[in-house]
Amino acid sequence: MKIQKLTSLLLCLAMLISLCGFQAYAVDADNWSSYFDEYSGTYGNVLMNPGSNDSERNFSWYSAKGSKNCKVLISENEDMSNSVSFGGKVSSTPESDCVNKVTVTGLKENTKYYYQCVNSKGESAVKSFSTIDGNSFTAMYVTDIHVTYEEDGMENSLKTESGNVNRLLTAAASKKNIDLVISAGDQASYGLRSEYVSLLASPLWSSIPFALCPGNHDRKGFDYKYFNNNPNKYTKGISSYIANDYWYVKGDVLFLVFDSNCFAAATHRAFARDAAAKNPDVKWKVAAFHHDMYGVMSEKRMTYSKDYLRPIFGEICDEIGVDLVFTGHTHHYTMSNAVFGTETTDSIEGKDSITDPRGTIYMVSSSINHPRGEENTRGDVFDENIGYIYLSDEVIYNLVDFTEDSITVSSYTIDGSEPFRTFTINKTSKNGGHPQYSEKEDLKSSDFKMEFKAFFEELGIAIKVIFNRFEILKKQDLI
Ligand SMILES: [Fe+2]
Repeated sequence: MKIQKLTSLLLCLAMLISLCGFQAYAVDADNWSSYFDEYSGTYGNVLMNPGSNDSERNFSWYSAKGSKNCKVLISENEDMSNSVSFGGKVSSTPESDCVNKVTVTGLKENTKYYYQCVNSKGESAVKSFSTIDGNSFTAMYVTDIHVTYEEDGMENSLKTESGNVNRLLTAAASKKNIDLVISAGDQASYGLRSEYVSLLASPLWSSIPFALCPGNHDRKGFDYKYFNNNPNKYTKGISSYIANDYWYVKGDVLFLVFDSNCFAAATHRAFARDAAAKNPDVKWKVAAFHHDMYGVMSEKRMTYSKDYLRPIFGEICDEIGVDLVFTGHTHHYTMSNAVFGTETTDSIEGKDSITDPRGTIYMVSSSINHPRGEENTRGDVFDENIGYIYLSDEVIYNLVDFTEDSITVSSYTIDGSEPFRTFTINKTSKNGGHPQYSEKEDLKSSDFKMEFKAFFEELGIAIKVIFNRFEILKKQDLI
């Protein structure tokens, strides 16, 4: 009898493990060191970026010099039978090896797919991902992951910090099935290839589309540009040397991703208008960019926010009616009130939900590898539009549930079994409570000045990065 009970228990456990999917690929903390030692000698895992919508996926992976004919095979069968092949483009990298970029299209809703990345130098193992069913899905929002190459003990910092990412994904995936990861910038600390390859070390990434933003640290190198394969990149106007603004749709949400390092106001505005015009029927608009506008920050950063960020990105959010913005940079968790024209229109203080807010809600989450606690805020400015604040040096992640009518953000500490906070935005119509926007009279002339300034700023920083990169490579004996 006891044996029967034990057998039943084991069968239940086995069923649970197979249903959870992610478990099959998980690496536990005890095995991370040996796993990473093996991983760090490879070209790294495949990055799956979102496609233009959920019927597409964009893939990117590094491979040996001389690679040709890259393609991704897609099948509904684990043995890859009846697979369909999608060809892509192989380019050279600054490291003189190759990066492969492929877009897969025509995926059906609510379907599990198996995939394999192939080129003339080899093929990846077979992995899987699933498309969403209808308009409901869950995204994980994190920021400032900061996988860091340290000159002293390079391997250890990359190993430890990528292990923390694996722990984070494991914790989040134990709560819910994650359909998307949104990261609001500073994925790396020096913008180095080794940092991005380490960022992707967790095997859990193989099934989750990863939407990144360029942070100020990502642009300390050029590798962010080679690493990503983003859809709908806006290539007109002035952009930074590592990224273009891009958009994608998932469910009933238009996601707009901006490079907030770059001051090119007219380009950002044209991108947002173009993305909104191409997706007129989508109910929700969610933006992601690195620089926080309404959180806890130093005097210097507050001035920067008021002089540059708010006139560019605040104005855009007002104009096209962005519902929620995911940011980072300050490493302090805050959520703003509903803001329009840089002022609070609806307070969220003491509330756990809001319906048809008359403006945009701006979030900041804390850093994954470099969280800053309360003691780090001394002397900092607390913006008057903050509606909720949680100062802690704990690692925080957010699970965001999107439905037709609501967005619910549940925020967890990495070791917490329950969210420390849950907040819901409800919308009863496509426009919700967004006020009527009127374009400012001097918008065109201020846009022109910013565009001009951005061009020279980007040029100057690119030259500095080339010099810094040369120095780093020299220190690593790579040149
Ligand atoms: Fe950061």
